[in-house]
Amino acid sequence: MNRRTFIKGAIALAATAWANPMIVIDAAENIKWWQRKPVYQIYPKSFLDTTGKGTGDLRGVISKLDYIKSLGAGAIWLTPIYPSPMVDNGYDISDYTAINPLFGTLDDFDELVAEAKARDIRIVMDLVFNHSSDQHPWFLESKASRDNPKADWYIWRDEKTNWRSIFGGSAWQWCEERRQYYLHTFATQQPDLNWENPAVRRALYDAANFWLDRGVGGFRIDAIVYIKKPALFVDGKPDSDGTCSVHNMTAALPGILDFLHEFKREVCDGHDIFTVGEANSVKPEDLPYWVGEHGVFDMLFEFSHVNVMFPHGEVWHRAELYKLSDFKQALTDSQRATRDTWYPIYFENHDKPRSVNNFFPAGTDRILAAKAMAMILLTLRGTPFIYQGEELGLSNVAFDSIDAYDDVSSRGQYDMARADGLSDKQALRFVHRFSRDNARTPMQWDSSSNAGFTSGKPWLPVHDDFKTCNAAVEEHDANSVLNFYRRLSAFRNASDVLLSGDYEELYHDSEELYIFTRRLGDKKLCTAVNFTTHDVKLPAGFKVGKKLFGNYRDEKNYLRATEGIICEL
Ligand code: NOJ
Repeated sequence: MNRRTFIKGAIALAATAWANPMIVIDAAENIKWWQRKPVYQIYPKSFLDTTGKGTGDLRGVISKLDYIKSLGAGAIWLTPIYPSPMVDNGYDISDYTAINPLFGTLDDFDELVAEAKARDIRIVMDLVFNHSSDQHPWFLESKASRDNPKADWYIWRDEKTNWRSIFGGSAWQWCEERRQYYLHTFATQQPDLNWENPAVRRALYDAANFWLDRGVGGFRIDAIVYIKKPALFVDGKPDSDGTCSVHNMTAALPGILDFLHEFKREVCDGHDIFTVGEANSVKPEDLPYWVGEHGVFDMLFEFSHVNVMFPHGEVWHRAELYKLSDFKQALTDSQRATRDTWYPIYFENHDKPRSVNNFFPAGTDRILAAKAMAMILLTLRGTPFIYQGEELGLSNVAFDSIDAYDDVSSRGQYDMARADGLSDKQALRFVHRFSRDNARTPMQWDSSSNAGFTSGKPWLPVHDDFKTCNAAVEEHDANSVLNFYRRLSAFRNASDVLLSGDYEELYHDSEELYIFTRRLGDKKLCTAVNFTTHDVKLPAGFKVGKKLFGNYRDEKNYLRATEGIICEL
């Protein structure tokens, strides 16, 4: 199919889906393995250390496979485990086809793939193809001169623009050897690869195929919207500080899908795997071009629902209190736009604050909030992505100095806030609220020292609530968040309605309640969550049916603080 026909087809498909809410979708038996069960995301550095060095490793993951299986997961997405100087904790790769000794060996990896497979779980790798590390041999060669064989494997220019990198500071770095600037969308040590060069694309596809040959079940593809650069590099509309986010200049530019169709052909076609691209800025209405049979990926992580607090771009100190109706609208838009394809449902990952803090007012009960989010995560249509610790209801940390933060973006955001005139205390408050380290503190396994994560010194401090909030304590409590996740995940994986049913949002204008239904034939389930810390009356005419799940034991004809229910209608 040529490009024009494809685009016409995709538009027609999207238009039908938006216009016809009752369109018939896949019956549950037709859906694929990666649609049927949740994916569990692991940040290996913080998961479980088996050697006492203070950082997690692959053998730690192997030892917890039964725990992951107990959550009903069908796949594990590992954030990058390749050799890396770890400036951005592995998203700065110096070798695409090896394992970082910090995490183990290729033998450990093969054992993980095999042990997981024995439990019906596939391993999913993170492909970081927009940029490499500045220590990658490709970059070392590229920067050495203007005429070496890899001279144009990265983006080199004589002049820089006013672009600000995503982590703060100029997106251009001067290189004395070449007497030129190179572009880095993220940290200085993460130079952007030049996708216009076919040799670069070939090398990246070969790297992906290396992991397919080792039996992986799919890929999460990092920062993929940035791989296409503009034909001309010019200054963008400046913010108050005189710079312009690189994101505004390069995200999802025309032509990007041509690269990605090639990636699909060269890597994915013919394999029983799934792909999920990370795509900040792809709007729900554009999803039909990106996902499904005619798109380039199976699923796409778009950001509209997790960025509702950033109407002015992801500058933390310009965040605003979010409106529940905006959050619901974002979810509803993506549910609608993917009704004929598929959607990855997520509220947490290694880049986001813990959702019990992110989506609820200060002072909300942690356990109620964690269960309420679980009810939404596991009943929307799509594959739920559970981030390590989310199933325990882990919450944010607040270190008392910026020096205690490891995360490169927290430090960049702090500097931006200070440069904008905020005091140390004010700037730190935004770091507490949004730091990526909130999700990266060590996994809380038990009440022993360092939460059972390591016998050494953890690379990042353990949350100080670990004695009461950990997997071992929750294991023995039938009402824990962990056991709630297990029951709900088992229910979801066996429910035709939740796997395939249609989605409809109700009472959209409410700024207190999120209510939606899932319907298949004459079967209908309803999820209702009160996002406030006070009692809220149910909308007139709304009847609660038979309650199947809830975070309060008894039932009322209104929803109490942070109450969530799933009921049969
Ligand atoms: C998105 C990843 O999730 C994040 O952790 C990383 O810092 C950037 N991409 C750059 O690779």
